[in-house]
Amino acid sequence: MSRPAVLVARAVFPEVVERLATHFEVEANPDDVIWSRAELIAHLQGKAGVLTTGSERIDADLLAACPGLRIVANMAVGYNNFDVAAMTAAGVLGTNAPDVLTETTADFGMALLLATARRVCESEHFLRAGLWKNWRYDLFLGAEVHGSTLGIIGMGRIGQAVARRAALGFGMRVLYHNRSRLAGEIEAACGARYVEKDELLRTADHVMLVLPYSAESHHTIGAEELARMKPTATLINLARGGIVDDAALARALRERRIAAAGLDVFEGEPRVHPDLLTVPNVVLTPHIASATRGTRLAMANLAADNLIDFFTTGRPRTPVNP
Ligand code: DGY
Repeated sequence: MSRPAVLVARAVFPEVVERLATHFEVEANPDDVIWSRAELIAHLQGKAGVLTTGSERIDADLLAACPGLRIVANMAVGYNNFDVAAMTAAGVLGTNAPDVLTETTADFGMALLLATARRVCESEHFLRAGLWKNWRYDLFLGAEVHGSTLGIIGMGRIGQAVARRAALGFGMRVLYHNRSRLAGEIEAACGARYVEKDELLRTADHVMLVLPYSAESHHTIGAEELARMKPTATLINLARGGIVDDAALARALRERRIAAAGLDVFEGEPRVHPDLLTVPNVVLTPHIASATRGTRLAMANLAADNLIDFFTTGRPRTPVNP
């Protein structure tokens, strides 16, 4: 019997491609060229499965042009690149890569919060530019992290992992807002209290965004929400670009209507809003919250497991449209 043909749409660890090649006819994208949509569709011809990284939009038009496709395995927990309804209608399964990145991503959330509140990058640039003349009592005064109030918007697995770190490790008061309130024992385990979004924005010293992107969460933080935050507050976006109105944020940062921001994700990334590049009080990182070798390998292997399980047992491990 011929083996199913599978496309690996972006470069991933060679050992994962080799693993896939023991089960499938594999076409990989080793040079990591970002294919245009037409090129992606051309490469998908004759393929029954594809491993994606989250940047490939899977919608009704693409599915209509790729009638042999049966499964799309995202190497990401977020799957806002999937039109899930269109995939279900076309009988195509989608899978994501949850759990394996939770703790690593939460670690990075704390790294970004600390770097932003304590002005790590701004002061490092100052030092490298040769501007440091002396110790001064008021050099790069930052915001307190320990004992302050963290407001988390989006309290899924990653939000909860951040809450545990903040409450148990840094003695922070943790507030959260989520579509639905968590069970009492989960709130207690992560030391977090549910509040309405407005209260969270008004009272938090640091606001961290960890919610999935969807039409409903588009611009969850825009000019109005930024105006409700404390002028001393920081904003951290660990989730997806598009959840924050980057132009409004750049204005708020420039006018010091909030103190600082830390962003790992951007609207239309890898493009970054040019105004964000010119304000000093923002820490910008290139979507690396899950980027440790162990975690990225686990994400790629879970995507591969989903393809292998689907074609051998019919049941992938982490479907999003079962
Ligand atoms: C995810 O898994 O959704 C991350 O953003 C990709 O690193």
